[in-house]
Amino acid sequence: MYDPYKLEHKTPTKKDYLDTTDFDQSEMLDMVKVSTTVRSYIKSGGTLETLYHKNLAMIFEQKSTRTRVSFEVAMEQLGGHALNLAPGAIQLGAHESIGDTAKVLDRMCELIMARVDRHESIVELAQNSTVPVINGMSDYNHPTQELGDIITIFDHLPKNKPLDQIKVVFVGDCTQVCASLMMITTKMGMDFVQYAPPAKWLNDDYLKIGRANTQAYGGSVRVSDNPEVLEGADFIYTDVWYGLYDKETPKEVYMREFYPKYQVNDEMLAATRNPEVKFMHCLPAMRGEEVTDSVLDGPNSIAWDQAENRLTAQRGLVLYFGGVAQTALDDIKRHKEDK
Ligand code: CP
Repeated sequence: MYDPYKLEHKTPTKKDYLDTTDFDQSEMLDMVKVSTTVRSYIKSGGTLETLYHKNLAMIFEQKSTRTRVSFEVAMEQLGGHALNLAPGAIQLGAHESIGDTAKVLDRMCELIMARVDRHESIVELAQNSTVPVINGMSDYNHPTQELGDIITIFDHLPKNKPLDQIKVVFVGDCTQVCASLMMITTKMGMDFVQYAPPAKWLNDDYLKIGRANTQAYGGSVRVSDNPEVLEGADFIYTDVWYGLYDKETPKEVYMREFYPKYQVNDEMLAATRNPEVKFMHCLPAMRGEEVTDSVLDGPNSIAWDQAENRLTAQRGLVLYFGGVAQTALDDIKRHKEDK
């Protein structure tokens, strides 16, 4: 019997949230649970002060809208505070190493979140701090997006279809978002397919993680350039074709590789032969390139729910890695019983 107020793991087994591969399915489901229970409570007008007087340092080596705003709002809604340490605003990179920055933030803040250029940087931050470090995206993965995405998928699951029959197709480049989606959907025992030209398929290191998940939890993982893989998709997901980490390859090269075959448009949704297929995008989107307006703004799109669930996930993450997720759920339960 599902109990929305009871976690299997009252505290995290790892200090940091750098990679979902560090956590098993039951721990990820705990993070989903605290996120969704707190979401219901806050949406119904409830308030929480679980992180009163707690501070989250947010380091950004790159721009961000969703990650930055969602963490800042999450901390405020839980009684805490977030500091936006944008590029150029702190000594990091100019006069101070990432390790020394971590040691200083460690003495002043209870949590650190960082979006970094290189995955090694987030690992170094975590190694040099005693407080939890959350990976707000690296060139390897995007685990906070992962949690928000699996919450969105659970919110929009087709009725009466078991998880091992859910098909999630990522269309496009093997970005860190593609890799993260593969990691979390296979961890939940779903069927994951990347539909892309062979040169852009997920590499063997990533696929090894997916295969280990399918061994443990069921489901499947595949890469293909055959459009037949679209058939029967429950979720179609895409991301931009160029830009974030590969600043050298010109846009025209990416356009030649992906356009028009891999653009998510009405024809591609029709090729799924599932009128209820849901469209997802981590955003920001390049309208008219990887996705058309008619799909992003159309009836099958859940991209805006997905964006909102970044906030749902961040509340869960700061509570869980702050070590107070069960406390928050106990408080919510008490409030409900007192009503
Ligand atoms: N999806 C995502 O991470 O958005 P931002 O880059 O705006 O944070």
